[in-house]
Amino acid sequence: MKKVVLSGNRPTGRLHLGHLFGALDNWVKLQESYRCFFFAADWHALTTEYANPETIKKNTFEMFIDWFSAGIDPEKSVIFIQSEVKQHAELHILLSMITPLGWLERVPSYKEIQQELKDRDLNTYGFLGYPLLQTADILIYNADYVPVGVDQVPHIELAREIARRFNYLYGNVFKEPHALLTEVPKVPGTDGRKMSKSYGNAIYLTDSDEEIKKKILHMITDPNRKRRLDPGEPEVCPVFWLHKIFTDDEKRQDLASGCRTASIGCVDCKSVLINNVIRFIEPIRERRVEIEKHIDEIPMIIEEGNRKAREVAEKTMEVVRETVFGSAR
Ligand code: TRP
Ligand code: SF4
Repeated sequence: MKKVVLSGNRPTGRLHLGHLFGALDNWVKLQESYRCFFFAADWHALTTEYANPETIKKNTFEMFIDWFSAGIDPEKSVIFIQSEVKQHAELHILLSMITPLGWLERVPSYKEIQQELKDRDLNTYGFLGYPLLQTADILIYNADYVPVGVDQVPHIELAREIARRFNYLYGNVFKEPHALLTEVPKVPGTDGRKMSKSYGNAIYLTDSDEEIKKKILHMITDPNRKRRLDPGEPEVCPVFWLHKIFTDDEKRQDLASGCRTASIGCVDCKSVLINNVIRFIEPIRERRVEIEKHIDEIPMIIEEGNRKAREVAEKTMEVVRETVFGSAR
């Protein structure tokens, strides 16, 4: 029996290079050796977007197209929408009965995201329950591994604690899942901060060559290299940080010494990066063109994924119901 891998993403919009490295490219590899479930966490999106829910459906669809373009294969992995598998909600409510409030209140993301999104009222029951819903997502498939970024580790830790508590109270049903942390290169955005949609500094998987070119040409560089003849320091330059992802070692060392001796200009250096990013995105774009030719089939593919997910989730729930309530006789 193959081990089970499960992960989800909130559908928040088009994917950029920061999503690709460490997350998506890792999922693409995992689907070769594991039974993989990947889903759009639309209920999770609703915990913060409840006042503007109208974009969630469209974002889900676009996110799936990005996933498929990046190489996620619905023939290999089960791709589904969280809200189409109601069993997640049922497990969530059962788990809520045994979850001490303090366990949720001390999850770091609870206060952090409230701080970050001060413009919204996140003093809601649903938002507090975010990591418990995530726990239900994970436990219902008996996932062995959950590939996530470090920020999600406390959520996986909670899932393990809840699994233990359930098993202790009612009987052994759930496995304790493990976080699968991957070496995630920090992908800088065009302004040197972490690449993020909300910073407006992202390069998207759907960007055209022209857009990529423009974004990279506008990138900030070593602030001490004001003129062409000023030597620069690549280690403080966001362009160079991107070279660390997209440019081979030999070429990158050439560029670094060219920068330090002012024998190349920033435009030369950026041109190399532009070519490499474009070359990198090329196969993703080609796959997208193919996918978009068959766009009408995507709802059917997702429906099939939902069906497969439901089947597994319902099997788990049959055991869970029986374990919690017993049978009538
Ligand atoms: N909280 C995750 C994130 O923000 C998304 C998510 C929801 C998830 N349910 C999950 C990830 C289950 C892994 C497993 O990225
Ligand atoms: Fe940055 Fe390249 Fe310019 Fe050096 S030459 S400052 S690494 S863009």
